[in-house]
Amino acid sequence: MKIIFSTGKGGVGKSTLAAAAAWQLSRIYRVLAVSLDPAHNLGDLFNVDTGGKRRRLTKNLHIEEIDLQKLSRQYLEREINVLSDTYKYLRALNLDNYFSVLKYSPGIEEYALLTGIENTIRDGGEYEFILFDTPPTGLTLRFLALPRITITWIDRLIEIRRKIIEKRYTIQKIRGDVRREIPGSGTVLAYDERDDAVLNRLRSLKDRYKNLTATLAGPDCSIFMVFNPDILSLKESQRLINGLRELELPLRLMIDNKVAAENRSMADEVEAALCKEGAAGNFLRVSLRPFFQAGSDACLYELEEDIASAVLSTFNEKTG
Ligand SMILES: Nc1ncnc2c1ncn2[C@@H]1O[C@H](COP(=O)(O)OP(=O)(O)O)[C@@H](O)[C@H]1O
Ligand SMILES: [Mg+2]
Repeated sequence: MKIIFSTGKGGVGKSTLAAAAAWQLSRIYRVLAVSLDPAHNLGDLFNVDTGGKRRRLTKNLHIEEIDLQKLSRQYLEREINVLSDTYKYLRALNLDNYFSVLKYSPGIEEYALLTGIENTIRDGGEYEFILFDTPPTGLTLRFLALPRITITWIDRLIEIRRKIIEKRYTIQKIRGDVRREIPGSGTVLAYDERDDAVLNRLRSLKDRYKNLTATLAGPDCSIFMVFNPDILSLKESQRLINGLRELELPLRLMIDNKVAAENRSMADEVEAALCKEGAAGNFLRVSLRPFFQAGSDACLYELEEDIASAVLSTFNEKTG
């Protein structure tokens, strides 16, 4: 299974080109197109109401608009369950209050998005391509950065937890009374790292994020960036290129969308500036369709430009 991300500034045409790429690829391959943008329009592009469910459009093409709020809620519920289970013996501290504010903590949306991507990939074995249409640059860079940031945190937490277990063991040895159970709580304290629920949970989280990082940075993932021939789009594209480079994520195709006779020289300039920025990928131009308005009868995903081949070549280059 190959994974594709459509990225870029708001309004440049990420969703339109994600839909066009998915449509073209689905002529040969089994494709799932997934919108991660809270302001969904993937369904509109194909003129269907997804109703928050995965929809089959043709034999080879499914689309889905991820409900970010629902996902955030599920993410929180799951995490709170795990926490209350792991910290049963801290009930006295009224942790429930703490949990109820968790939902306002920054980052929940990004973690939920990441979990959505992870689950989609894990359960998406039947598809040859999964294409993610992303929210605008800022949020996208934040959730793509999460696995790495989280691994750094987890490493530090593992270190602290190991010290706690070590100290606990030393104290008990000095007291000579190795009591394993917290009286009346049913909670058994671990003196061996392998028995410690917190440490095991941290290690399994770390494995999860390591796997995800490897998938996103690996040969079966490709990111394309959409931009327009204008200065604002250039500036934001430069930020995206640098952000992805820092994260060591593979940006291999740049689509210059909405190019027309009037802005062709600007398109040349913006592409040249992006090349200077060290953009390593190929460029593809998609022309401006003046009749292309949302709500018109035109099929917004039907573009003449061969986006599928451009996307496919980014995989061939890597494997070839
Ligand atoms: N090549 C194009 N020619 C004309 N209009 C386009 C083209 N590509 C996208 N659009 C229009 O630009 C607007 C933004 O496109 P959209 O795909 O929703 O952008 P994004 O997902 O990046 O926010 C939409 O109205 C869409 O119809
Ligand atoms: Mg969009």
